[in-house]
Amino acid sequence: MIDAAIKILKETSSLLVITGAGISAESGVPTFRGKDGLWQNYRAEDLATPWAFERDPETVWRWYDWRRGIIKNAEPNKGHIAIKELEELYEKFFLITQNVDGLHERTGVKNMIEIHGNLWRVRCTRENKTFVLPDVPLKEIPPRCSCGALVRPDVVWFGESIPVELMNKAYSILESYETLIVAGTSGVVYPVASFPTFMKSKGGKVIEINLEKTPISSIADISIIGKTGDILPEVVEGLKKIF
Ligand code: OAD
Repeated sequence: MIDAAIKILKETSSLLVITGAGISAESGVPTFRGKDGLWQNYRAEDLATPWAFERDPETVWRWYDWRRGIIKNAEPNKGHIAIKELEELYEKFFLITQNVDGLHERTGVKNMIEIHGNLWRVRCTRENKTFVLPDVPLKEIPPRCSCGALVRPDVVWFGESIPVELMNKAYSILESYETLIVAGTSGVVYPVASFPTFMKSKGGKVIEINLEKTPISSIADISIIGKTGDILPEVVEGLKKIF
């Protein structure tokens, strides 16, 4: 399977990678679905919707603080690093991550978008101005903008749309890239879940890496079962021998 993936990648001049929570699992960041996923113990509608924040902003803020606490102590793993190495191998490379943990950014990868936002960034609910959270403890939870309005995590919640400029960017990349690696996502949250089908419909190739089969597996050209932290470095090593 890995050899077949390397063969496709060898013949590719443009590579798009899409990642989900699974890529950060080996860094100790919990995923959302599955046995130890966050949605086993928490209800998305109580924590990750605009209505939840309106009803109980403090609880939502504290849940994000708890997640920030885990992520602060996490490091990018071998999977994140392999993706950065892929960027170095291809002139035309792009990464779309659904993750809000900022771990990809910490590897130095440049051509990327965080399509669901970033939990270190916060946004005024009135003016939409964004800020990066300071290291110092906040006086108020949730904090307020200088205009007096509450500040919220700058992430995309259920029931919200992805900002139009990010969607336009994603579609222009999908249209002009040949091959997609989709790694560590359950492939059930739209619109990103539809990107592999889009890639196939325009004649592109799709390689999936996941611990288990997903709805993407049946349309993927190659579906590799395994950890992203094991498989991606093997793929990069294989490619380096050829490039
Ligand atoms: P999920 O938690 O839904 O899926 C994680 C996927 O990663 C699963 O398919 C696992 O099998 C796989 N996985 C776990 N560990 C892995 C490993 N070491 N190697 C390879 N695969 C592994 O996370 P996402 O697909 O990212 O959105 O979820 C998509 C969106 O739903 C998230 O961005 C978030 C969530 O609710 C919002 O909060 C809006």
